[in-house]
Amino acid sequence: MATHSQATWGGRFSTGPADLMLAFSESVSIDRRLASFDIQVNKAHSSMLCHVGLITEAERNAIHSGLDGISRQIELGKFKWQARFEDVHMNIEQALTAKVPAAAKIQTARSRNDQVATDVRLFLKSACASQIERLKILLRTLLELSGEFSAVFIPGYTHLQRAQPVSIAHHLLAYMEMLYRDVGRFEVVLENANVCPLGSGALAGSTLPIDREFVARELGFVDAKGKPRLTQNSMDAVADRDLFVEFASACSLCGIHLSRMAEDLILWCSQEFKFIELPDAFCTGSSLMPQKKNPDSLELIRGKASRLQGNLQALNTMTKGLPLTYNRDLQEDKEPIFDSHDQLCICLSVMDGTLAGLMVNRERCAAAVSDPVLLATDLADFLVQEGVAFRDAHHAVGALVQIAEKAGVTIEKISDKEAAKIHPKLSGDWKSVFNLKKAMERRKGVGMPGPAQIKRQISRWRKLLVLS
Ligand code: ARG
Repeated sequence: MATHSQATWGGRFSTGPADLMLAFSESVSIDRRLASFDIQVNKAHSSMLCHVGLITEAERNAIHSGLDGISRQIELGKFKWQARFEDVHMNIEQALTAKVPAAAKIQTARSRNDQVATDVRLFLKSACASQIERLKILLRTLLELSGEFSAVFIPGYTHLQRAQPVSIAHHLLAYMEMLYRDVGRFEVVLENANVCPLGSGALAGSTLPIDREFVARELGFVDAKGKPRLTQNSMDAVADRDLFVEFASACSLCGIHLSRMAEDLILWCSQEFKFIELPDAFCTGSSLMPQKKNPDSLELIRGKASRLQGNLQALNTMTKGLPLTYNRDLQEDKEPIFDSHDQLCICLSVMDGTLAGLMVNRERCAAAVSDPVLLATDLADFLVQEGVAFRDAHHAVGALVQIAEKAGVTIEKISDKEAAKIHPKLSGDWKSVFNLKKAMERRKGVGMPGPAQIKRQISRWRKLLVLS
């Protein structure tokens, strides 16, 4: 029998890889994270080999108990990962073969190419589920805050200039919409991951009588009716990295939402706004300035969001020029998705912790929203109700604003006489539009910030999040 320079593929080589090459090409330091999925895949594959008569039941049983032993060792941190076996797959195969001779048959009708594709699909299914879970926790916290601060009005901004009154609740509910779309995106990625590539071999399947449906069923790649879902082209199955991109993209978009939320909160807790006070537990101080309390949790979330963009970009550029099918470049695909997953997980939890301890400064909010000029559009609407064309109404109110500004007074301080000079319809109870509470009540259509609508939205969310 020929001696092997490398345990798994050394047959046609006269020397093993240089140390430098080993250090360069190993991925086990990263992909050992897939070990539990790889063991699951090994079990399903060996069960299938037995099912079709390619190995005996005794061999399958020996392989399974060998895998259980390895799994325990890994959990206890006792498994010896070796860079010379390159990756998680070969480490497990080698350890298994050392204990169970029948494991020399485990790679029958299988390649690491379909194996890694399968492992990662299992990883992504569980990663999506855990992102969805965290997103829902954050959504619940946002909902609670929305309920608590539904009557706290603040200015809404465009161009970062005070525009029209909204409420803290309406602002937070806006983020809930975004995050709920993120939930939907992770659900789609999960669904797309739920297809089994095993049996695609290196790129062209196998001549052996394997049963792909059997493996898919074993691994839970089934539809709602329990029907196995299989990839339909062996070349696509081993070369496809769409899911990686989809997952990284869902993470990056969710990161963008968190980052925008972070930015609003950072503004709100500044001395200039002071709408909110952040919990000490999620802030840090300055090593030099004793008075400082910095919103570091939020700034870090904003920073992590760019890292999530980077991961997505890395995957896009990694795949765009690759010929079919597998190329070793693809080994670089795991770090970005692991990193995106980990970073988004912690960002969601940190955002949740920061929000949960947030205090609202009602006086500052009331002061910020008190300028009646925020209801200038309401005055234009008043004129529209009086039969004035909106463009003319806009112009008239604009002129009124200018007069008030020049006089250094707020708009409702302008006398009736002066107002009537600007537009004859600015008469009667035109100043009644500046009653903030009433102005908010008028905003009652679907999606608007009025209290009746907010109440409706909150109960809609309670149902969506199965809280009532
Ligand atoms: N560690 C490898 C990766 O993730 C597994 C596939 C290796 N395939 C190969 N033909 N060398 O890309």
